[in-house]
Amino acid sequence: MFPEHRMRRLRSGKIRDLVRETSLSVDDLIYPVFANETIDAPQEVASMPGIYNLPVERIADEAKEAADLGIPAILLFGIPEKKDEHGSSAWGDDDVVQRAIREIKNELGKDMLVITDVCLCEYTSHGHCGMVDFDTEEIMNDPTLPLLGKTAVSHVKAGADMVAPSGMMDGMISAIRSALDENNYYNIPIMSYAAKYSSSFYGPFRDAAGSGCCFGDRSTHQMDPANSDEALMEAALDIEEGADIIMVKPALPYLDILYRLKTEFEIPTAAYNVSGEYSMLKAAAQNGWLDEKKVMYESLMSIKRAGADMIITYFAKEMAEMLK
Ligand code: PBG
Repeated sequence: MFPEHRMRRLRSGKIRDLVRETSLSVDDLIYPVFANETIDAPQEVASMPGIYNLPVERIADEAKEAADLGIPAILLFGIPEKKDEHGSSAWGDDDVVQRAIREIKNELGKDMLVITDVCLCEYTSHGHCGMVDFDTEEIMNDPTLPLLGKTAVSHVKAGADMVAPSGMMDGMISAIRSALDENNYYNIPIMSYAAKYSSSFYGPFRDAAGSGCCFGDRSTHQMDPANSDEALMEAALDIEEGADIIMVKPALPYLDILYRLKTEFEIPTAAYNVSGEYSMLKAAAQNGWLDEKKVMYESLMSIKRAGADMIITYFAKEMAEMLK
């Protein structure tokens, strides 16, 4: 009455290590960083323990800390002093992100890949990702596109190595690709937030970036969490428009989407382990309900196993520390 198959033979000791299919490396990690023009000392985000809003002058230190841990890339967000209807602090040469990029590049040069989030929501007084028609409260697609192009060009001019458009406007990848090409930045890659869902897991980020909106929500441009085929279409269009890397966001509740996209397109694919995913684990760990290091490792490993080539995560520094 012996079992015919004994799966347990490969499960112990060194054999377990030999047969492991997925591995996490510090090279997989991208660390999100917030440069904030309105503060002059680091400010911890209340809902994201361990994550700070940083004055522009402190941003290079943070990037250096990440570089010293071996983290290859950061994703930079800016919180401007002045917000207006058009988000015009998004593209000036001396605005918050552009200054922060220069600070990091002066300090680290090629030792840190600087990726910038390209969206207007942190810069508009109404907190929306595009121009708004105030009569109808419509977030207008086409008038937003040139502004995104202009913003991306200003980031690259300041020294950004890659741009990551996150606003989910139709046609934004081709608008940005053409704007970059016209300025001779044809070698700068685009990482597109291709499948970005209208998710409540972004809550803590909106605290961090002060980008909550005063009316309406993002459901007219971000995807319905119930949909999966639509993500394939989004990604196909973005690739056709010139995206070099596609992203799925959030990560953990959308591993099926990640798997489908990676399997279907076989191009470099990123997953964004978003603020809410981070805060959940932090809160549970602070209560002593979960072992933080172990759930962090298991979560990031699962994202990798599902198909991510790279993971944007607020855990990047902690994970890098653990991988050392
Ligand atoms: C838009 C943007 C958002 C996030 C990244 N880029 C917010 C949104 O779409 O509301 C969320 C990231 C996170 O939750 O960690 N600029």
